[in-house]
Amino acid sequence: MSAYIIEGGHPLDGSVRIHGAKNSVLPILAACLLAPGECVIHNCPELSDVAASLDILRHLGCRAERQGDAVVVDASAPTGWDVPDALMREMRSSVIFLGAILGRMGRAELCAPGGCELGPRPIDLHLGAIRGLGGRITEDGGGLRAEGALRGADLVLSLPSVGATENAMLAAVCAAGTTTITNAAREPEIVDLQGFLRAIGAKVHGAGSSVITVAYLAAAASAGGTVEVTGVDYRHLSTVSAVLREAGCDVQSGAESIRLRRDGPLQGVRPVRTAPYPGFPTDAQAPLMAALTRGKGCTVFVENIFESRYRHVDELSRMGADIRVEGRVAVVYGVPRLHGAQVRATDLRGGAALAVAALGAEGRSELTGVHHIDRGYQSLEGDLRRLGAEIRRI
Ligand code: UD1
Repeated sequence: MSAYIIEGGHPLDGSVRIHGAKNSVLPILAACLLAPGECVIHNCPELSDVAASLDILRHLGCRAERQGDAVVVDASAPTGWDVPDALMREMRSSVIFLGAILGRMGRAELCAPGGCELGPRPIDLHLGAIRGLGGRITEDGGGLRAEGALRGADLVLSLPSVGATENAMLAAVCAAGTTTITNAAREPEIVDLQGFLRAIGAKVHGAGSSVITVAYLAAAASAGGTVEVTGVDYRHLSTVSAVLREAGCDVQSGAESIRLRRDGPLQGVRPVRTAPYPGFPTDAQAPLMAALTRGKGCTVFVENIFESRYRHVDELSRMGADIRVEGRVAVVYGVPRLHGAQVRATDLRGGAALAVAALGAEGRSELTGVHHIDRGYQSLEGDLRRLGAEIRRI
């Protein structure tokens, strides 16, 4: 099990190029199953969730291999239609394979998905969409079996779930006739999947991830200094940039870059409410909170997307943060300084948040549970070190 040792208090300085986005590349890898030929995904990040997706594709009878920063998938002749328990449990988003496998193979068998512990993460909207397209689904003992010829339909999602929208899109492109998805999610990864589906069989470039970018911007806000992130679309981050500006950072957007400078003290900001895109992203809540633990005054966070997404709060408190949680609301009372501590990551973005806090804390922190961070960030420690952070993996 790896851990990070972080010596806080070193300002960051420099430029970092953002890797392709986990949340974009996972549905695209599932979509590769639909293309009866070879797909090349460029700028595909090296993450444990990507490795798990390649394992699933291989299990289904595809050729799937990494070639440098690209991944090549050949789905000319898939033979399987099930995803074994071990692979499903490794990654919650493996449920995205449901629509793709059913669409390509006419049947699919999966067990209940794994992934981050963010409170109950039902899949009823995914199943409703597949059923709406004519898929027959039976559930028994934590497993799912789906079969049936799919036909286009008018689908209405009761809330704009990212995963359910992706599953519906993957199944719908295999269905006979036209499908309309009402109240579909509008996150940047949905646009990326649409682009891939349009171009299936062609070469695809992964877009920079807004969420990874947030981690570096929050790290610079926390540690101080000047950091430029490149390979990003600043429009995906307008709500986050606005909060960072309000907190006292100088944030400048270029064509494909964002530069953040923080040399004065951080300020608390107006309430931050998470919402579906283009609202404030739930994945950015924890890293922003980590930086704002030292914001003068008080900041209120309202988490509207997931029930249990404050697991980083107890760990931040070990570093001296003053945060009170009441249901979906967290009130952060800014403290003048944090101190290094032994802390544990229990989920992906919460883990990145602890690194952000440790970079701005006085003294040494040991952050365990780094495998959660590895699911979504390629070599976070290497990039941070190049920016001047004192961080190493043991
Ligand atoms: C995706 C992202 C995740 C991000 C989230 C919200 C990936 C791999 N993960 O997760 O990083 O935090 O979007 O931006 O892309 N819901 C239901 N029934 C369903 C599905 C969802 O009630 O069938 C609820 C969930 O419990 C949650 C809300 O809908 O409260 C939003 O979840 P959703 O948008 O589906 O998130 P994911 O696709 O799981």
